[in-house]
Amino acid sequence: MIDITLTVNGEEMTGRAESRMLASDFLRDVLGLTGTHVGCEHGVCGACTIRLNGTTARSCLLFAAQLEGAEIVTVEGLGSPRKMHSIQEAFRRHHALQCGFCTPGFLMTVAEILETETLETDAEIREALSGNLCRCTGYEHIVRAVRDLVNERDGVAA
Ligand code: FES
Ligand code: FES
Repeated sequence: MIDITLTVNGEEMTGRAESRMLASDFLRDVLGLTGTHVGCEHGVCGACTIRLNGTTARSCLLFAAQLEGAEIVTVEGLGSPRKMHSIQEAFRRHHALQCGFCTPGFLMTVAEILETETLETDAEIREALSGNLCRCTGYEHIVRAVRDLVNERDGVAA
């Protein structure tokens, strides 16, 4: 067992993990942050997406030990039911989720692409979200939510 100390959502935390434990399991089972979902455990679905030192990462493809000294943000760091982040508000407004299983991963990806991509067209939004899979929505409402956020960001009237 090893002790891992890291900053999670702005707070320093320490947890114990076996050396082969996945980061996604460490977040959920050791730190109790169950907002990070685990779907495929193969790096395909994006449900386990977190921000690691500012960049999105699939926590199912990392070992917990790799989080030592890292600064990470999970979906819990984005907002809360009482004080939702603008991305969460946009998803709610546009009915961009059904079962919600994929949603934490989408929210973390959207947070990054709003910072890093121009997203001028819906095709670009779809491309930027192509690493996250959703079985329920058909993506259309997710794209609408992101389009709204891009317009807000760019000061474009809807
Ligand atoms: Fe990590 Fe699917 S659970 S990408
Ligand atoms: Fe169900 Fe996306 S809302 S998988």
